[in-house]
Amino acid sequence: MRKVLIIGASGEIGSEIEKQLEQEMSVIPTNRKTLDLGTNEDAAKIVSVMNEHDPDFIVNCAGIFGNNEVDFNQIYDVNVRITWDFIKYFMSHQPSKPVRYIAIGSSAYKSGRRDYMLYSSSKAALVNLIQGAQEYFDGSKFSLSLVNLPGVNSKMRNKAKNVANSSNLMTVEMAANKVIELGLLHELASCWDLSN
Ligand SMILES: NC(=O)c1ccc[n+]([C@@H]2O[C@H](COP(=O)([O-])OP(=O)(O)OC[C@H]3O[C@@H](n4cnc5c(N)ncnc54)[C@H](OP(=O)(O)O)[C@@H]3O)[C@@H](O)[C@H]2O)c1
Repeated sequence: MRKVLIIGASGEIGSEIEKQLEQEMSVIPTNRKTLDLGTNEDAAKIVSVMNEHDPDFIVNCAGIFGNNEVDFNQIYDVNVRITWDFIKYFMSHQPSKPVRYIAIGSSAYKSGRRDYMLYSSSKAALVNLIQGAQEYFDGSKFSLSLVNLPGVNSKMRNKAKNVANSSNLMTVEMAANKVIELGLLHELASCWDLSN
């Protein structure tokens, strides 16, 4: 049975991914309490979790949605640095089997949001980071996918102010399903954009 490590499994999308996958894969859920990433200590934690679990998939569902009052590092450490730390890990640890890292992006990457400048810019940085890493690891056993979700009918989205109202937000169930379908099960590792 393939193993999937979920970062941010206590979140709405992360817990739904866990639920949808638990019959098909061996799921290792983590949350901030069990695996706090996005700090200078990440390298050691990542080595330890990879040695312990040896997953086939790492799904990063951690994310911070903050307005302009939130500290810069708080948002960038979680939304960008965690992915960079996994990239650095795989630069020095060549896996012996195929391993895929799946990040969740947002349609917010496409344009700056007045009240959420750091969130939207961190999601733009994530796109660029994943694209560069896809080129870097091309032909190796490590691959990366990014699923850019549109607005999801979730607590994260619903606490946002001054964000265009949309009557057809994706459900959390559908968002999780798309991350699984495109990020994990699709043969191709790619940057997927569901926001069009
Ligand atoms: N919801 C939307 O409308 C929407 C739309 C597009 C994209 N996305 C993206 O989808 C992803 C999941 O969103 P969501 O709605 O499920 O958010 P959520 O319910 O707020 O969950 C966020 C998760 O991130 C975890 N987390 C935060 N900081 C962490 C850290 N330092 N180390 C490890 N885990 C940490 C949280 O853990 P704790 O429980 O410990 O806080 C929680 O499990 C995010 O990347 C988000 O940007 C969401």
